Amino acid sequence: MSSFLERKSPPRVVVGVTGSIAAHKAIDLVSQLVQRECEVRVVMSADALRFVTEVPFRTLSRNSVVTSLYDTDEDWVPQHISLADWADVVAIAPATANTIAKLACGIADNALTCMVLALRPETGLLLAPAMNGRMWSHESTEENVRILASRGAELVGPSEGLQACGYQGKGRMSPVEEVLAHVMEMLKERGRA
Ligand SMILES: Cc1cc2nc3c(=O)[nH]c(=O)nc-3n(C[C@H](O)[C@H](O)[C@H](O)COP(=O)(O)O)c2cc1C
Repeated sequence: MSSFLERKSPPRVVVGVTGSIAAHKAIDLVSQLVQRECEVRVVMSADALRFVTEVPFRTLSRNSVVTSLYDTDEDWVPQHISLADWADVVAIAPATANTIAKLACGIADNALTCMVLALRPETGLLLAPAMNGRMWSHESTEENVRILASRGAELVGPSEGLQACGYQGKGRMSPVEEVLAHVMEMLKERGRA
């Protein structure tokens, strides 16, 4: 049995949710992470809020959800900075073509993209892309993904199958269990799980 002093703080995961039809899958991801005793904070893009509300994320993570750069805690530190300092791993699931492109260019125009730019070098960044197959195979997206991978971002998926737009192909967000397993592995690599 470990003493109070030996006990580690819970692993800290930020789940970023962007404006994809797969955004509902992030609800299950947050639930699964909490069940594995992670502390979870959720940051949503404005477009993510068109697909799912912040209510399930707030309830399941037992924390407020960041949806704007101008959301404040009691603290004076902007939340995109305090969360960047806090996170062990950031998992953007689903990650849209738009957010992937913004991250590859260093654009910082919402709480999620600002937070990623402000991450500590040791914090893991995981992307679970979800998009139409042609968006995924477009050379812009391919190049953006290459850039992010070369900077240390990890990718899970996308997977093949029938897409919401009616096309068959590669672009579906990977199953939640795969994203979850990857997050847990990244936490383990950092001695946090
Ligand atoms: C019904 C619908 C579904 C969409 N699904 C996706 C998607 O799965 N992946 C994607 O990259 N963009 C998708 N889009 C487009 C994005 O919502 C759009 O590019 C948006 O600007 C993304 O903003 P964000 O990256 O800040 O969340 C979808 C748009 C609509 C209207």
